[in-house]
Amino acid sequence: MEETVKKKVMLSGIKPTGDLTLGSYLGAIKNWAERADKYDCFYFMADLHALTTRNNPADLRRRALEQLAQYVACGLDPEKNTLFFQSHVPAHAELGWVLNCYTMFGELSRMTQFKDKSAKNADNINGGLFTYPVLMAADILLYQPDYVPVGDDQKQHVELTRDVAQRFNNLYGETFKVPEPFIPRVGARIMDLLDPASKMSKSDEVGNGRVCLMDKPEDIMRKFKRAVTDSETGHCVYYDAEKKPGVANLMQIYSVCTGKSFEQIEAEFDGKGYGAFKPAVGEAVVEMLRPIREEAEHIMRDKAYLEGIYRAGAERASYVAERTLRKVYKKVGLVQK
Ligand code: TYM
Repeated sequence: MEETVKKKVMLSGIKPTGDLTLGSYLGAIKNWAERADKYDCFYFMADLHALTTRNNPADLRRRALEQLAQYVACGLDPEKNTLFFQSHVPAHAELGWVLNCYTMFGELSRMTQFKDKSAKNADNINGGLFTYPVLMAADILLYQPDYVPVGDDQKQHVELTRDVAQRFNNLYGETFKVPEPFIPRVGARIMDLLDPASKMSKSDEVGNGRVCLMDKPEDIMRKFKRAVTDSETGHCVYYDAEKKPGVANLMQIYSVCTGKSFEQIEAEFDGKGYGAFKPAVGEAVVEMLRPIREEAEHIMRDKAYLEGIYRAGAERASYVAERTLRKVYKKVGLVQK
């Protein structure tokens, strides 16, 4: 008899607080799409997480739906991947509450994203911003994943998730699988094109240093031509993340888009300088994103198709999530329904 081997599980999410950027794509979605056949995958729109910052409600709804269309356009086949809205699966908020009681104030105070975000939004340091990593731990642990594919900035949150899972397992016996972060070797931290010391961010308001998946080719080219490099004589293209962060960032982007190594890129632009290098990176990005943009625009026009995807996704996700939640409620001593 043929034996069916259970696939390993992957899970990740993105919050719809802004238009998806090249950073979200290279740091996360590209890696998800490349692994859809090998793993049992759950990918969601982290819409509850988006509430920690103030959004225009109509914009949030539009962006969340666009994000789903973009997931599919990036190659996440809804037949092979479970795609859903976090808010459609109540178990996320429910397990989030339970895990709040197993996560320490000190641990949450050490989260660098909390420190950065509260410094940037001093007028809205709400409780949700502080306990955000606990909801993220719940998002993850509900699905018992083996791997959580994220960019570098989410590593600390996945590590906290591991600590909380281990703490719970030590108290109540094996309940949660302890997941591994899965971080790409190149592209895990794409920097702003105008400020290579800061991460390219979808919630950045100015937007000239960030490239969005839906940007038009002429806008992408303009942003890359203006990208900040350095004033080193000779304008030599070589990789040195400390001394030449702007060029290093562009090399990372070019490397992921073309599959070329840093040595190959150095050889390709030897003696040509930044004047040739910057538009070449722009063109590589335009060509990589063109089919995604066209497909996402097409999918966005079919609201019934999108609805079918997220309804089926929520049903599949709820089935798995509820199973874990019931186990947790039982272990901590809640009376069963
Ligand atoms: P978010 O929405 O800020 O980012 C989504 C994903 O994109 C990656 N990323 C980047 N990678 C490389 N370079 C960049 N400039 C860049 N910007 C963003 C992020 O690392 C992330 O993988 N808390 C999460 C969302 C979330 C989640 C989860 C993720 C909620 N629940 C459960 C995994 C599992 C967040 O705010 O990501």
